[in-house]
Amino acid sequence: MAVALRGSRGGGSNGPSMGLRSLFSYRIFVSAMFSLLFLATVSVLFTTHPSASNHDVTLPTTSGNGNAYVQRTFLALKSDPLKTRLDLIQRQANDHITLVNAYAAYARKLKLDISKQLRMFDDLALNFTHLPLKPGYNSALSQPGTNIDDDVLKQFEKEVKDRVKIARLMISESKESYDNQLKIQKLKDTIFAVNELLIKAKKNGQLASLISARSIPKSLHCLAMRLVEERISHPDRYREEDPKPEFEDPTLFHYAIFSDNVIAVSVVVRSVVKNAEEPWKHVFHVVTDRMNIAAMKVWYRMRPVEGGAHLEVKAVEDYQFLNSSYVPVLKQFESAKSRRFYFENRAENETKDSGDTKFRNPKYLSMLNHLSFYLPEMYPKLHKILFLDDDVVVQKDLTGLWRIDLDGKVNGAVETCFGSFHRYAQYLNFSHPLIKNRFNPKACAWAYGMNIFDLDAWRREKCTEQYHYWQNLNENRTLWKLGTLPPGLITFYSLTKSLDKSWHVLGLGYNPSVSMDLIRNAAVIHYNGNMKPWLDIAMNQYKSLWTKYVDNDMEFVQMCNFGL
Ligand SMILES: *[C@@H]1O[C@H](CO)[C@@H](O)[C@H](O)[C@H]1NC(C)=O
Ligand SMILES: *[C@@H]1O[C@H](CO)[C@@H](O)[C@H](O)[C@H]1NC(C)=O
Ligand SMILES: *[C@@H]1O[C@H](CO)[C@@H](O)[C@H](O)[C@H]1NC(C)=O
Ligand SMILES: *[C@@H]1O[C@H](CO)[C@@H](O)[C@H](O)[C@H]1NC(C)=O
Ligand SMILES: *[C@@H]1O[C@H](CO)[C@@H](O)[C@H](O)[C@H]1NC(C)=O
Repeated sequence: MAVALRGSRGGGSNGPSMGLRSLFSYRIFVSAMFSLLFLATVSVLFTTHPSASNHDVTLPTTSGNGNAYVQRTFLALKSDPLKTRLDLIQRQANDHITLVNAYAAYARKLKLDISKQLRMFDDLALNFTHLPLKPGYNSALSQPGTNIDDDVLKQFEKEVKDRVKIARLMISESKESYDNQLKIQKLKDTIFAVNELLIKAKKNGQLASLISARSIPKSLHCLAMRLVEERISHPDRYREEDPKPEFEDPTLFHYAIFSDNVIAVSVVVRSVVKNAEEPWKHVFHVVTDRMNIAAMKVWYRMRPVEGGAHLEVKAVEDYQFLNSSYVPVLKQFESAKSRRFYFENRAENETKDSGDTKFRNPKYLSMLNHLSFYLPEMYPKLHKILFLDDDVVVQKDLTGLWRIDLDGKVNGAVETCFGSFHRYAQYLNFSHPLIKNRFNPKACAWAYGMNIFDLDAWRREKCTEQYHYWQNLNENRTLWKLGTLPPGLITFYSLTKSLDKSWHVLGLGYNPSVSMDLIRNAAVIHYNGNMKPWLDIAMNQYKSLWTKYVDNDMEFVQMCNFGL
């Protein structure tokens, strides 16, 4: 799947003009990181400000209700009518903490820590993260449902305040980089951050190292940061909305787009809508990760999808059935052995693009990539869904895809084999008896990126069970290496219907000689390969086909130097 290799070299910009640009985004990045760190610091301070009586937490909030929320948080989240608002606030707090951690990790990766100050910030972020995990606090404060011991809380408060003091000092020393203090007044609803810290710190720590393991171009970081800052400064504008009935209406045209890249998703969606004859009949289901959900939601609140189309944004984490007791890749990733495999040598060797590193890229394991195996469960009311990668551009009305008779098969896709290339033998280990006995090595491979799935047929054929069976067998990676195409080829073996090639033209991310006629006639073009259109290394002859769908009126797109 093309998502997997995104951005592997995007951060590298060379030459004088690029130098200027990266300096600019560096400054944005630094100031954004400082402000986020400060936000977390302040929110921690506010949250741990207990008054004399037990569990009675006073808050610097103007509304009387605010007190009630916080008490409830510390009193283990009794569910009541306030829960909706509480959820919203917690989500926002979550955004802040996650981003602080991620950006601390990013700073480490960029070796910004040559600056002593940045290293200190980095330490501090770590200290905050580790604090609630201390044995005494972990058991006393983080278990929902247990009463909080006043002494423990006071001690905890003291330690937090010590860190806050250091943070204040550091921030006043680094005023020049830090220009956002005024916003802090608006941040009363980040007060739950410490609670989130307590519960989520451990997970976030893992998340942060995952993030730092990938290289993402600075522009993309900048965009995500700007969007999250926007949400932090105007929390009132970004309340959760109820799901629309259209999201479950099987008579409409539904799309699944799983991505952590805001700009890429926006191009896919705009290109569909601009070429649709009846855009109001199209429904987009965007799923992203916890890191990017806030940014993605803010984008679509600021730039609603056009033409009356419908769009929902969810995080992988919203699908609770996708947990490690159900999903083999999650179980496998949690096993210490495979973690070692993916992370060893990461720091030193991550920038190299040797053949083997792509198999070690943790992105390959990202749940986002494997989500496509769970479509029927994620969208139980739907009969058909079109799966699109985030590195495609749509050039025609696609509704014809829903009318194609799949002959009872599950997956409609274009085949990619020619001569002896792109056949099953190339993707699966035919020395293994299980593979040899079950599959034809000459079977033609097909492409992910634009697939029309018949979800009823999928349920009938129990494809997800098939996928689980094989993915479990592949724990040792002897059946195939990594990625989602090999298990896809297995899962939809003899259940794939070949579509006309003009539906989906591939190779724009690696092949400099795709015929322009093919491209012009294609319904969907696909930048699979390393040279993504949003990177500096994109191939010039294909770039404009993508950039023409970039929303240049969006202020943050200009601010973040997409260099289009
Ligand atoms: C973080 O904690 C360590 C000890 O746990 C301490 O040495 C260090 O100074 C702390 N850093 C900051 C910035 O508070
Ligand atoms: C994990 O998912 C299964 C269904 O797939 C569900 O029954 C179970 O409650 C989930 N576990 C947790 C901890 O959410
Ligand atoms: C990085 O890769 C080289 C070979 O490409 C290897 O010799 C070296 O040990 C690796 N780095 C680490 C820290 O293992
Ligand atoms: C993986 O390999 C180990 C030994 O290397 C073996 O004991 C285990 O059964 C294998 N697991 C699977 C799922 O094949
Ligand atoms: C392919 O399968 C065979 C038989 O299980 C195994 O010995 C071999 O190591 C596998 N090849 C790879 C590359 O994993």
